[in-house]
Amino acid sequence: MKTHTFNVDEIEGQMLNQLLISAVSPRPIALVSSIDNSGKVNLSPFSFFNIFSFNPPILIFSPSRRSRDNTTKHTYENVLQVPQVSISIVNYAMGQQIALASNRFPKEVNEFEKAGLTPIKSNVVAPPYVGEAPVSFECIVDQVLSLGNEAGSGNLVISKIVRLHINDSCYCPDNLVDLEKLDLIGRMGGSYYCSTRSESRFEIKNPETPIGIGFDQLPKHALGSDVLTGNILGKLASMAQVPSQESLEICRANPEIEIIFEQKELEEKINLLHHKIKDLIKKEQFEEALCCLFLIQ
Ligand SMILES: Cc1cc2nc3c(=O)[nH]c(=O)nc-3n(C[C@H](O)[C@H](O)[C@H](O)COP(=O)(O)O)c2cc1C
Repeated sequence: MKTHTFNVDEIEGQMLNQLLISAVSPRPIALVSSIDNSGKVNLSPFSFFNIFSFNPPILIFSPSRRSRDNTTKHTYENVLQVPQVSISIVNYAMGQQIALASNRFPKEVNEFEKAGLTPIKSNVVAPPYVGEAPVSFECIVDQVLSLGNEAGSGNLVISKIVRLHINDSCYCPDNLVDLEKLDLIGRMGGSYYCSTRSESRFEIKNPETPIGIGFDQLPKHALGSDVLTGNILGKLASMAQVPSQESLEICRANPEIEIIFEQKELEEKINLLHHKIKDLIKKEQFEEALCCLFLIQ
């Protein structure tokens, strides 16, 4: 496979930024509310954001130094003064409003007002959270870790969650949150966002068996297949054990398989078997599919 390899020291800053935010994507978006020591409220979105631990429950976001003029963000300045934040999660309905909140307003401007979002008084921390958000966290800032003093340098704001608010509209007692009703969006490269609605969501179930046989145990012909994709082989390699002799014999006696073995050329047999395996996987008949794969070793 051909690849382009870059030495990061030789890539111009803006280009590296674009490359990284396109490749490390989609990213969840934190809408961060903070205050300065005179009590002025600030609200800004940050997609250099994620959860890094649930015991203790830790969220980290990064208000970077601006690449254009190396200035720092109000959010960063605020957390150094008052080490508390409210972090609200962003859904589709809030998209345009959070983009507006990201404008470079003067320090005295409250972005809740500019973006038309509702501040709700927090239980424990001083910064309010966003009433429209599906989920919000009240956090105590544990550490602010500066990654440098140059334009584009990040500042990790490491925060411990002390309260969690789930909007009734997406609360469900079984799983706590309903993914469809959450309707979260993610940030991608350029000015692109993505949706998490059901049409773009899919499930990869954890294998029921604790340890799969692995790709190295699959017959060689499987790995060079034009029909069997990485996902199909991944599913088969997640099975607990290679098929027994007895199950292979049962599989081989199936009339549909017998027809395949009537072919003279080995390549043709393999090709037909691979198509059969693909069909069986579609029907979620995984044991049968694995047996077919092992009929030729
Ligand atoms: C969706 C989105 C995600 C953003 N993510 C970040 C980020 O992770 N880090 C950052 O420094 N700026 C990010 N920005 C830009 C900031 O929101 C913007 O610089 C804002 O003006 C900072 O506000 P403040 O100076 O009031 O803190 C993002 C903007 C948007 C719209």
